[in-house]
Amino acid sequence: MTQQTLRAYPVWDRTVRVFHWVSVLCIALLTVFGVLLMTSDALDISNDGKVILKTLHVYVGYVFVITLAWRLVWTFLGSRFSRWRAILPIGKVYKAQFQATIEGHKIGRRVRFLGHSPLARMMVTALLLLMTAQAVTGLVLSSTFYMPPFGNQIKTWIAEDPASIELIKPYSKEGINEAAYKEMREWRQPYRSAHEWIFYLLMILIPVHIAAAIYIDVTQRNAVISAMFTGEKLFEEKPFDAD
Ligand code: HEM
Repeated sequence: MTQQTLRAYPVWDRTVRVFHWVSVLCIALLTVFGVLLMTSDALDISNDGKVILKTLHVYVGYVFVITLAWRLVWTFLGSRFSRWRAILPIGKVYKAQFQATIEGHKIGRRVRFLGHSPLARMMVTALLLLMTAQAVTGLVLSSTFYMPPFGNQIKTWIAEDPASIELIKPYSKEGINEAAYKEMREWRQPYRSAHEWIFYLLMILIPVHIAAAIYIDVTQRNAVISAMFTGEKLFEEKPFDAD
């Protein structure tokens, strides 16, 4: 019996790995706090409790936004497999990878990729887009909760007069001009709905992403999951997209 040796190929740089696991932690916490907020009436959580939950959600949200922003910058500065060219499901290279996958499928030979496979590129693009949209809508909501980045501007908008800006607090009508407050709540409504719908989409895509990673790890045995810790995948033969 011949035994082929596995070779380790470097793929994910440190920024990609740190971003991945910090995002996992942030999304898990944001989901817990978010679900508690969504169900706060049913759970009979007091206004003070809601303020604590929202504040915690927003602080974790800032960590999430900073990590995501750095990852998006890294798509221009980082190593080969961290860049847009290796992520977006477009372009000549993507087309060639897609065709190779289809041809391989026809003859029963699975084409292996060091970076993202053509399907994984679609998933990662969708996840990055949704995460970015969630970060943007979240920052609008944190502002309407009178926290940074634009909490002070929102307070100025809805204040009865400049002297009452300091009095404005969540779940209190003190210092607020009712008409301006109503206007602000209507303005924020689409962002709130979008934040909720993006959350539902993420709750569908994330389990699919995890299931796909487990399936590939088990069937291809190329250490796809541990690669997010070690930065390396294992292959018997040179993968399609390796140098
Ligand atoms: C993947 C990331 C995120 C997830 C999964 C998430 C999830 C949620 C969920 C489920 C809710 C409850 C929605 C509702 O009550 O209908 C919520 C509310 C909220 N989120 Fe997020 N969120 C994320 C990111 C962020 C970020 C980055 C920020 C800001 C820094 C943020 C700020 C807020 C605020 C202020 C609320 C309360 C909205 C309100 O006043 O009703 N979120 N989030």
